[in-house]
Amino acid sequence: MTRTKAGTRAVVRCEACGRTEPKWLGQCPECGAWGTMVEQPARAGERRDPAGARGAAAPVGELVAQPIHAVAGDERDRARTGIAELDRVLGGGLVPGSVTLVGGEPGAGKSTLLLQAADALARQGRTALYATAEESRAQVRLRAGRLDTLHPGVLLAAVTTTDDVVALVDHHQPDVVIIDSVQTVRDEDAGGVAGGTSQVRAVAAALVALAKGRGVATLLVGHVTKDGSVAGPRVLEHLVDVVCELGGEAQHALRLLRATKNRFGATGEVGCFEMTGAGLRGVADPSAVFGGRSEPGTAGVARTVALEGHRPLLAEVQALAAASSLTQPRRVATGVDGTRLALLLAVLDKRAGLPVGARDVYVASVGGLTLAEPAVDLAACLAVASSETERPLPDRGVLLGEVGLAGEVRPVPRTADRLAEAARLGCESALVPTAYDGPDAGLSVQRVRTVSEALAVALQPPAGAAGAVG
Ligand code: TYD
Ligand code: MG
Repeated sequence: MTRTKAGTRAVVRCEACGRTEPKWLGQCPECGAWGTMVEQPARAGERRDPAGARGAAAPVGELVAQPIHAVAGDERDRARTGIAELDRVLGGGLVPGSVTLVGGEPGAGKSTLLLQAADALARQGRTALYATAEESRAQVRLRAGRLDTLHPGVLLAAVTTTDDVVALVDHHQPDVVIIDSVQTVRDEDAGGVAGGTSQVRAVAAALVALAKGRGVATLLVGHVTKDGSVAGPRVLEHLVDVVCELGGEAQHALRLLRATKNRFGATGEVGCFEMTGAGLRGVADPSAVFGGRSEPGTAGVARTVALEGHRPLLAEVQALAAASSLTQPRRVATGVDGTRLALLLAVLDKRAGLPVGARDVYVASVGGLTLAEPAVDLAACLAVASSETERPLPDRGVLLGEVGLAGEVRPVPRTADRLAEAARLGCESALVPTAYDGPDAGLSVQRVRTVSEALAVALQPPAGAAGAVG
């Protein structure tokens, strides 16, 4: 491939991802899209490979290769934000020249989190430029006052175009730039309506080029709506280095930040925050929050250990089974999957002889945690059974297992880690599938083959007298 001098000759640019090539190709080598390569004049400083090597592109005539260890790029170059839960998700901090997309529904707390991150970075002597296109400077200033994020190292500017951002970055040379949001900034070289797919892509491509060219770590806010009416971060995912999503149940203060893509670290990392009157506060020990605060001996309460990304979290499932006056009994699932609940109730009815088929059943997770894994099946089943029979489960016990249609209790991934987390938080006993042959983490572990067996073992006498599993 012959290299053309950027900025002097026409290039072919992929409309989907911004990749440029010296000659026309049917398929983009970067994102694999077909028919998206369009001839355009090259922009000065544009990177030919937005996703590849970091650092400046080798100019013509200076093309060199170096021993790999001599190439710049060291773990120590990462800028820790100082917000532990954010750094955990980023894989240790922000890499210079990297682009991180922070997605989430409106109101999730993206602006709050990034303003707090800007302030935390400034406190460590870095300059953070917060470029707002969505809110006025006064609005951001007001929020910063409430959050007490007024460190002079945080520079605030209102921008409307990508050229504004480029000019500001060139003038102030910040270490980190935050763009709030990618949907409200315009790129004047691109067509399309503001916030539309082609605009959002063009804006992101220009900001990626800026980040790589100047070595400035860039954070982009991107709104995602449930109905997808705004061109969301989905179209940008292959353009950026890190994608994380801030989410949580609207009625709860809990916010989880998950990395779904990370070129510099593991995905599956999860950061836990609580939205307070003074912004987002990291929750260092989320298990302690979700792990149940119910009165000992309460029927209808079961504990399990769920996985959020890589992180085992002690979680509580509550159930209420009540007489129904409806021909179609009511089934309400909050924080657990409704279809899964229907299946588990059928299994309880048919395989374990528990007549819940005609009962109204409500099942909820505690604290706004979404328990989407089958590993929590056994806990959900036993919470319902406990409520139905008015017999409590052991106060300091956890239940792990997927439940099959035949009523069998199936193994779940990372059982040993889950048991260790339960033990760490003071649990004493556990029910696990028979297939589990790993360590017991100091718990009194009992293996069960079926849901019926689990009911026989775990349900305590109705009086609420305490007792260990088994
Ligand atoms: P915001 O960061 O504006 O969300 P996003 O940028 O993702 O749209 O804040 C979201 C919500 O958080 C907002 O409805 C108000 C609430 N909030 C607090 O509860 N405490 C606070 O200190 C702040 C700044 C916001
Ligand atoms: Mg916002």
